[in-house]
Amino acid sequence: MQDRILSDNESMERQSAIEAVRKRIAGLELGYHIETYGCQMNEHDSEKLAGMLRECGYHKAESKDKADLILFNTCCVREHAEKRTFGNVGFIKELKQENPRLILGVCGCMMQQKEVAKKLFERFPFVDMVFGTHELKHFPQMLLKALDDKRVFQVTESDGEVIEDLPVERIEGFSTFVNIMYGCNNFCTYCIVPYVRGRERSRKPDDIIAEVKQVVSEGYKEVTLLGQNVNSYSSDGLDFHALLRRVCAEVPELRRLRFMTSHPKDLSDALIDAMAELDSLCKHIHLPVQAGSDRVLKAMNRKYTSEDYLTLVSKLRAKVPNVEITTDIIVGFPGETEEDFEATCALVKKVGYSNAYTFAYSPRGGTIAAKMEDQIPEDIKKRRLNKLNAVLAETIPSNNEKYIGFEGEILVEGVDHRGAPLLFGKLPNFKMVYVEGDERLIGTFVQVKVEGYRFNSLFGHIIER
Ligand code: SAH
Ligand code: SF4
Ligand code: F3S
Repeated sequence: MQDRILSDNESMERQSAIEAVRKRIAGLELGYHIETYGCQMNEHDSEKLAGMLRECGYHKAESKDKADLILFNTCCVREHAEKRTFGNVGFIKELKQENPRLILGVCGCMMQQKEVAKKLFERFPFVDMVFGTHELKHFPQMLLKALDDKRVFQVTESDGEVIEDLPVERIEGFSTFVNIMYGCNNFCTYCIVPYVRGRERSRKPDDIIAEVKQVVSEGYKEVTLLGQNVNSYSSDGLDFHALLRRVCAEVPELRRLRFMTSHPKDLSDALIDAMAELDSLCKHIHLPVQAGSDRVLKAMNRKYTSEDYLTLVSKLRAKVPNVEITTDIIVGFPGETEEDFEATCALVKKVGYSNAYTFAYSPRGGTIAAKMEDQIPEDIKKRRLNKLNAVLAETIPSNNEKYIGFEGEILVEGVDHRGAPLLFGKLPNFKMVYVEGDERLIGTFVQVKVEGYRFNSLFGHIIER
């Protein structure tokens, strides 16, 4: 993204730190490597860190082993993510012995939990920088200290702010992310995100549109607008559906516009109408249901019932042609009975998802659910997760039958070499289609006709170039 005019003291401090780092490392040809865990929010933060590193004079290293600076951008949404981070950071010790000037930093959501961050900082003395999610804008200043052999620990509690002047080094490709809001106010009782990402705050529509225009001019063909709950976007008197209409009207060159994630409690009829009417708005919605039992939904603080959810699904299907719905589901929430779990399986069968991410409930320190009685034993969670996945394995393919003979447009993303090479790309509704074709079609839109399917993917051929 184009650099913006520096507007405040912090930007000036950052700028002078960037200059100082550039001088410090001039002629050394230093490379960086960023390892990102978790969701698209983190992916996008990593693109901002990469943008600042580029400004500081670093280049992207060929691999982790060749890097002079390694950053771990961490996630803590489930326990598994935390364990992996501790393990992977531990492995870097050897690399530091081989390359004494290697700087190691750990940041992201997991480091925003001060106690966890302290534990990591103490356990691994070879970690040079630990910083939380609200420190991104201070990165060059922290890097300068680390280059001076000082260990940096910077985790501040904050509701968060909207920072507009960070550069972005985007992952190359045809599809990219644009943040429209940060943080979350929903406090679902199982979830750590509101604690580590601060309060909900929306970017100004003009800033969002300027960024969308910028990425389209750089050649990106698909933009995903990001937020923990995009349906509660609100800025300059604009709500989410109005923002979508403005983006489509003011950036007509953009071929595909997507968004995620939608909270069912805030999914309005106006948004469904916008999905039906706006041609470049993709006909796919990621609508996490989390559970099918009203009792569990209430305990999760989700603020809708399974009936409310099914009504939304019916409205979407009635108004938006070929719409596909994907979801997130948690099994084994505290107090979940067999009957509650069966309600989740029944809902999954009724909706007919095109894909679903399923998780065993993982207690997160500081959340309400972690303190609830009736925590479900691990073996029961595992059994329910397996059973739910088996239900999905049956329902997802049955949803594909209607695509036989279907014609539509895919954006070719790459070549799959697992068998005979096949191009792959998605329809506007996020269904993946595999076709035979020339690699030079990567990055272009092609018309395809579907002939068959396997699990959640479709197979077909190109009908027109
Ligand atoms: N903001 C998004 C998703 C955030 S986290 C939303 O509201 O939908 C992504 C998914 O991780 C959630 O949808 C949920 O299914 C899962 N998740 C969050 N906390 C979890 C926990 N403690 N244990 C298991 N899964 C969890
Ligand atoms: Fe977590 Fe709920 Fe916020 Fe999503 S809406 S980030 S699940 S608290
Ligand atoms: Fe995302 Fe994980 Fe943070 S899911 S917001 S990276 S806790």
